[in-house]
Amino acid sequence: MYGGSPRRFARVLKVDPINPEAGPIRIAAEYIRRGEIVAFPTETVYGLGADATNGEAVRRIFEAKGRPMDNPVIVHIATMEQLGTVASVVDRRALTLADVYWPGPLTVIFPKSEYVAAEATAYLDTVAVRMPAHPVALSLIMTSRRPIAAPSANLSGRPSPTTAEHVIEDLGDRVPLVLDGGPTAFGVESTVVNLATDPPTILRPGPITVDELAGVLGEVKVAEAKPEGGEGRPLSPGLKYAHYAPRAPLILVLGSPNGMPDRVLALARREIAKGSRVGVIATEETKYRYPKEWKVISVGTRFNPYSIAHNLYSTLRAFDPAEVDVIISEGFEEKGILLTVMNRLRKAASEICEPS
Ligand code: TXA
Ligand code: MG
Repeated sequence: MYGGSPRRFARVLKVDPINPEAGPIRIAAEYIRRGEIVAFPTETVYGLGADATNGEAVRRIFEAKGRPMDNPVIVHIATMEQLGTVASVVDRRALTLADVYWPGPLTVIFPKSEYVAAEATAYLDTVAVRMPAHPVALSLIMTSRRPIAAPSANLSGRPSPTTAEHVIEDLGDRVPLVLDGGPTAFGVESTVVNLATDPPTILRPGPITVDELAGVLGEVKVAEAKPEGGEGRPLSPGLKYAHYAPRAPLILVLGSPNGMPDRVLALARREIAKGSRVGVIATEETKYRYPKEWKVISVGTRFNPYSIAHNLYSTLRAFDPAEVDVIISEGFEEKGILLTVMNRLRKAASEICEPS
């Protein structure tokens, strides 16, 4: 609930995603300047934004999402001058990355400046920064004349929102304003990279792939999805929490694409024998392999892996717990954008089925 009682419902303003109208942007910028929270589209997923320099405003983001206060959020900027206000040191490699990938779905960790509220970075001395490639996000930052702290605009633990409808489903009674700019392009959250390690570490895979980053930075390593051992802080605080989960338990099936439908069918029959109603996440190429009576959703085509990323979260949200007791998902090769898809599916899964 936003601001205590009485329960209110979000104001929703449609906005053109290519040429955002001044009216809705000005209204949303006033909310940001007043210290309120606003949901807005980016090229990855919808963000839940607040003035990154206002600790009380940032706190409202965590309250609305039910997000643990020790998981820092990303600070969004619109210009390179603004980078100098939120980061205390910007080295050459970061400038090279920014030159190649900003605006775009890449988040870089910097030493934090005093200007950014401690709440935004969970009291760490570093700040995660990105310049989004979305006209609505950029205009909102420019018009409010503030860096905007924003995690994904979902309830903590749910799949990230790729439409305004998803935001409203999760947070309709917890946020005062939603800018509706239609569906997002990539459908998965930005790649997060830490340049302070040698070689640089990908803390979260995203639309900018490991190979693309290696092309600019030379060698890079990918952080373990689950930090080993109990010692010390996890590399990226977000890694230790359950994420992206649909409402029914998800079983993720690993192995080569060839035998995939047969393995999913065998598993599904095992679940059905236990009395469960089964849903299947399939692809355009495999959806015909499953009985018509089952709830089968195609997440995209294996010939265009970006289509799978684009549809992933809406597919996870589409299984109604009143209709299915368990979801079985086909797995994908862990390369390129599909590494990112598998990273999210692994975190969403309650069971991972290795090939026998
Ligand atoms: O595409 C995106 O990145 C979306 C849109 C809205 O920009 N935002 C997003 O934010 O996914 P969020 O808060 O859901 O994810 C931020 C990730 C988390 O895994 C968090 O732990 C990590 O970035 N992170 C934030 N600040 C960090 C820091 N100072 N050091 C290491 N990791 C950090
Ligand atoms: Mg998130």
